[in-house]
Amino acid sequence: MLFNGKAGCAACHSGWNLPDNKFHDIGTDTEDIGRAQLEPDNPMAKHAFKTPGLRNLTQRAPFTHNGSQADLKSILAFYATGGVERPSRSKLIKPFSMNDQESEDLLAFMQSLTGEKSATPMPVLPN
Ligand code: HEC
Repeated sequence: MLFNGKAGCAACHSGWNLPDNKFHDIGTDTEDIGRAQLEPDNPMAKHAFKTPGLRNLTQRAPFTHNGSQADLKSILAFYATGGVERPSRSKLIKPFSMNDQESEDLLAFMQSLTGEKSATPMPVLPN
C-alpha cells in the first residue's frame, strides 16, 4: 500500500519487473547530466536516468547510476526527502514522511522482490 500509495514509488516502478522504462531525474546529487547527453533540447532530460527494475535488489547494492546509495535504507531515506530540488526533477518525486513501522514495511517489500534461484535446464537444440 505504501509503495503504490503515499510513497508514490509505483508512479515509475510499475509493470511486472517494476520499471516504466522511461527516464527521470529523481534528484540524485550528481554532476552527470544523464539522458541530456542524447536529448540536449529537453530540459527534463537533465540528470535523468532510466528507471531500473527492482527484482533481486538485495543482490546488487550500492544503488543508482553512481552507486551513491549504499543500501536500501539509505535510498528510502533519500526518496522521503525528495533529493535535490531543481527544474529537471520529476514532478512524480514527492517528499513524504514515514514512521519507523512504515519504513520497515517498505524495506520488507523491497526485500521480498528477491526470488529463489531455480535450476535452468539446458535446452535441447536441433542438429
Ligand atoms: C520519478 C520516477 C520515480 C519514482 C517516483 C521512484 N523511482 Fe526509484 N528510481 C527511478 C529512477 C529513474 C532510478 C535510477 C536513478 C539513477 O540511476 O540515478 C531509480 C532507482 C531506484 C532504486 C535503485 C535501483 C538500482 O538498481 O540501483 C531503488 C531501490 C528505487 N528506485 C526504489 C524506489 C522506491 C522505494 C520508490 C518510492 C519511495 C521510488 N523508487 C520512487 C525512478 C523513480
